[in-house]
Amino acid sequence: MTENAVEIRNLVRTFRDGAVTALDGVSFDVPKGQVFGLLGPNGSGKTTIVRILSTILAPTGGSATVAGFDVVKNPDAVRRSIGLAGQYATVDQNLTGFENIYMIGRLNHLPKDVVRQRANELLAQFNLSDAGNRNVKTYSGGMRRRLDLAAALVAHPPILFLDEPTTGLDPQSRQDLWFAIESLVESGVTVLLTTQYLEEADRLAKQLVVLDKGKIIAEGTAAQLKAQLGTTVLSLTFQNLADADSALSLVRDLSDKPLNHDGTVVELTVNSGPATAAEALRRIDASGVTLAGLALREPSLDDVFLNLTGHKAEDAPAAEPVAKGRKAKR
Ligand SMILES: Nc1ncnc2c1ncn2[C@@H]1O[C@H](COP(=O)(O)OP(=O)(O)OP(=O)(O)O)[C@@H](O)[C@H]1O
Ligand SMILES: [Mg+2]
Repeated sequence: MTENAVEIRNLVRTFRDGAVTALDGVSFDVPKGQVFGLLGPNGSGKTTIVRILSTILAPTGGSATVAGFDVVKNPDAVRRSIGLAGQYATVDQNLTGFENIYMIGRLNHLPKDVVRQRANELLAQFNLSDAGNRNVKTYSGGMRRRLDLAAALVAHPPILFLDEPTTGLDPQSRQDLWFAIESLVESGVTVLLTTQYLEEADRLAKQLVVLDKGKIIAEGTAAQLKAQLGTTVLSLTFQNLADADSALSLVRDLSDKPLNHDGTVVELTVNSGPATAAEALRRIDASGVTLAGLALREPSLDDVFLNLTGHKAEDAPAAEPVAKGRKAKR
């Protein structure tokens, strides 16, 4: 196996005879033994990359290797090296949790007694032992996601692709899955994770690539991405939408970065926080608008994303409205 778990060079994928460009020349390396984050809004190309890397879809151009094997020339070797938990849990609803894992293990040509033992181990690891003999139909969303991840691990793959593993989960289930992913990486597994949740990427990923419309628009560690932005976010809260709207025009020029306006909150990314806060206060006070709250905070990855793309990660227009309905908002 090479230094990197995954190497992608100038990857291109088009659909509909070239009418849709899902990937427009993407290159990156995923080093072994860490979580690598692929971040981007709806339709940016995350799932297309995961599908190419798991040999479900062929690239239109460029190349990709997984565990040192070319995805086009050596798909069988690639498949033996990976586990995949897709964007939507793919477990069979009419089987029990145990049966699902057992079936995947047998499809992976593992002997019956090995699979039986492995299934029980995995159910215990993901806190599903009690539910193991129940039909998946009766599972919650979080339980299905955990089972999907457990099934992906049945053959001990060294590389794991997780496509939006926590989308639609409640905060507790999300936390549980984060712990599970962290302990996998501690055991030496490499994880390529796609997400729209910047908080998730910040928490889990050592390195990140930010995709927008099939292109990489930024890469580095979360800290590097935040440092590009400036030092402080000035957050102003108003009592009602009308006040926030009028304040917007008063303070807009205090930052040359895109500002975040969400309901009664207006946020500016600035380099000199206290001085800008004082100036904003003077202007707002002079206009007669009442300020309900003011805070200075460090930039988050959400701010980075807004600054790079001009829109928030979750606000991006859906490219495929059909798929959108299945995705819960944060
Ligand atoms: N089979 C297909 N036929 C036509 N267009 C496709 C197909 N698969 C993907 N696309 C298009 O390619 C682009 C990238 O899609 P992709 O599913 O990779 O995005 P994504 O980042 O995973 O989005 P999401 O966050 O919604 O899952 C989108 O514009 C999508 O409409
Ligand atoms: Mg996707």
